Amino acid sequence: MTFTVPDSDLRALETRVRTALRTSDDTALPLLGHGEVALVLELATQQGSFACKRLPVFPDRYRFLAYEQVLGTYLRRLREGGIRVAETRLWHEQAEGDRITGYCVQETLPRKRLCSSLLHSEGQAWAESFFARFLDQVDGAVSPTLGLDAQASNWVDLDGELLYIDVTSPLMRDAEGKELLDTRLFFASLPWLVRDLVRTATAKSIFDKFYTTRGVVLDFLGNLHKERLAELIPGFLEQANARLATPLTEKEVAGYYRADARSWALIQRLRKADRFWHRVLRRPYPYLLPPDVDR
Ligand SMILES: Nc1ncnc2c1ncn2[C@@H]1O[C@H](COP(=O)(O)OP(=O)(O)OP(=O)(O)O)[C@@H](O)[C@H]1O
Ligand SMILES: [Mg+2]
Repeated sequence: MTFTVPDSDLRALETRVRTALRTSDDTALPLLGHGEVALVLELATQQGSFACKRLPVFPDRYRFLAYEQVLGTYLRRLREGGIRVAETRLWHEQAEGDRITGYCVQETLPRKRLCSSLLHSEGQAWAESFFARFLDQVDGAVSPTLGLDAQASNWVDLDGELLYIDVTSPLMRDAEGKELLDTRLFFASLPWLVRDLVRTATAKSIFDKFYTTRGVVLDFLGNLHKERLAELIPGFLEQANARLATPLTEKEVAGYYRADARSWALIQRLRKADRFWHRVLRRPYPYLLPPDVDR
């Protein structure tokens, strides 16, 4: 599975994104999906369809090159850890001054094969076999220096194999536990208040969960509430607890999800307030925000 990034089509897409940001109107952009932080745009070309994930604007070449390296290392380490990762290319273009805009580009994968969809459309047997494969993958890869954001919407089941798609924010730490990603840049869309929280006391604990099997599984199970799949939790808990040193409970999963949902809802409110003030002051708001999530 290898492809060439359609350069001129991407250039045209970026022009549309800039117009959308300048006019504060993103309704005409072709939306493929979204997470908590960003939008994923669909680019239909003669060479096929691509999922384009716009990165925060890099202030200069050095910040871009640092990201390129971190992303490359992350893709390699995930693969070494036994994870099949969607082929991902980093595309970039010079913007005003020293600034650089970039996208992570992947081929568009069939929406129906997204695991969050399959958990709705397939039966109990598929769910069980999916979760067994999921636990193998997570347990084989995750370590104190390699993290995974393994929600159901980040996996695609293709030909009986799980493919991981959410790689734009690489989760890696050095030996001291410091994130290798430029978190300041990647969380710049969060209003200053949250950004400060993220940067200081809570930064480490916010990310901790991604670096242990137990934390990744807890986050996955908690998110089943958001996906309206809570009925799967008891069965999955049994499967997971057969392997975890400290078992998880339904109560812990529900409590975790309530807290997580509250923080994301707060972040979204603050971001929208920030965007509102940008508009009042007639300054273009520089980020494409995902739509509100029903929690
Ligand atoms: N290659 C792809 N093919 C089809 N759909 C995709 C692809 N990549 C992403 N999507 C859709 O967009 C959604 C969000 O993508 P992704 O998980 O990569 O970003 P994200 O969750 O916004 O990232 P973050 O967690 O950093 O906010 C996916 O759940 C899926 O619905
Ligand atoms: Mg995602």
